[in-house]
Amino acid sequence: MSERSCEPKRIIVTGGAGFIGSNFVHWVVENQPGVHVTVLDALTYAGNRANLDGISADRMTFVHGDICDATLVDQLMTDADAVVHFAAESHNDNSITDPAPFVRTNVEGTFTLLEAARKHGTRFHHISTDEVYGDLALDDPARFTEETPYCPSSPYSSSKASSDMLVRAWHRTYGVDATISNCSNNYGPRQHIEKFIPRQITNILSSNRPKLYGDGLNVRDWIHTEDHSSAVWEILTRGRSGETYLIGADGERNNIDVLRAILEAMGKSADDFDWVRDRPGHDRRYAIDSAKLRRELGWQPKRTDFAQGLAETIQWYTDNPKWWRGAKEAVEAKYAAQGQ
Ligand code: NAD
Ligand code: TYD
Repeated sequence: MSERSCEPKRIIVTGGAGFIGSNFVHWVVENQPGVHVTVLDALTYAGNRANLDGISADRMTFVHGDICDATLVDQLMTDADAVVHFAAESHNDNSITDPAPFVRTNVEGTFTLLEAARKHGTRFHHISTDEVYGDLALDDPARFTEETPYCPSSPYSSSKASSDMLVRAWHRTYGVDATISNCSNNYGPRQHIEKFIPRQITNILSSNRPKLYGDGLNVRDWIHTEDHSSAVWEILTRGRSGETYLIGADGERNNIDVLRAILEAMGKSADDFDWVRDRPGHDRRYAIDSAKLRRELGWQPKRTDFAQGLAETIQWYTDNPKWWRGAKEAVEAKYAAQGQ
């Protein structure tokens, strides 16, 4: 484990056309003037090239390709100082109905990238989730720390846990200069409408009733995606090699409170939603203790006003119907077939 001051000038961002990846690319372009980004993205159902609109060609190159394509990954890595690896199959509900793409992209894809990073000596930052730690009880005062044992519940979280283990092993065995961050639930613009917050916002905008799983008391620890981006940059450039950092902004809220905040902000009554079938294996509560990141790297979240962030997110979906309307019917038909 060593101190660093890494100043990458050419970075590869995998999954840069997805929700968090695109927010990170915009953040880098706006905040790190000397850095060129190469986005590698397969443009699955969750990726959208338009998420990167407005970024000039001298700051970003877009490569349409798969992280499991070893030849392509090897070729891109010849010309990069660092990789920030966001690409993944990311939705729990999808992983329950069809886990195969999760194992392929999240495990085999991470393996493919690590092999290229090993060959080229490329700095590697792996984006992961707090879901690798399983869940906490509602009445448990504990929060996840970097020492919490891995205990994933779903095909999604177990595939992410597997990828984290590969990164740790490639660091220890081959000396790959790698770090891992495990972040809590993100919200903000450009999140796919299959996910909780945008699904409910776009339901209301489409005159559908929002849908709440189970008893609605499950807790998620919300962070604005801009705060995730700034934390990743700190870890990439100043984090200690081989270390894991948890990213969170003390944003624990249960689902019914989040839904009621959306309903209120959109002028609906507090009970204007449907209770639907619970998710199998549904994790009860996630909570992050990000003391290590704050202490070692001095990182602080800035977007901690949830009501303000939510209002801006609602405004973004209201202003950008073309971005989501085309997918809405199919997403809701899929959920309806599952009783959700
Ligand atoms: P997303 O589903 O919105 O985006 C994933 C992106 O990866 C898409 O652009 C997709 O086209 C691309 N992709 C998928 N398979 C690919 C492949 N084989 N090759 C190349 N590109 C591929 O996901 P997200 O919510 O932005 O999550 C990004 C990362 O952050 C994931 O690793 C996820 O596990 C992690 N994470 C997400 C959250 C959250 O709240 N969404 C929280 C913590 C960590
Ligand atoms: P989600 O956005 O899928 O994120 P994750 O499963 O990674 O936490 O779901 C967030 C929470 O919201 C989770 O407890 C499941 C719940 N949920 C609903 O109640 N209704 C919905 O329509 C969806 C998609 C999720």
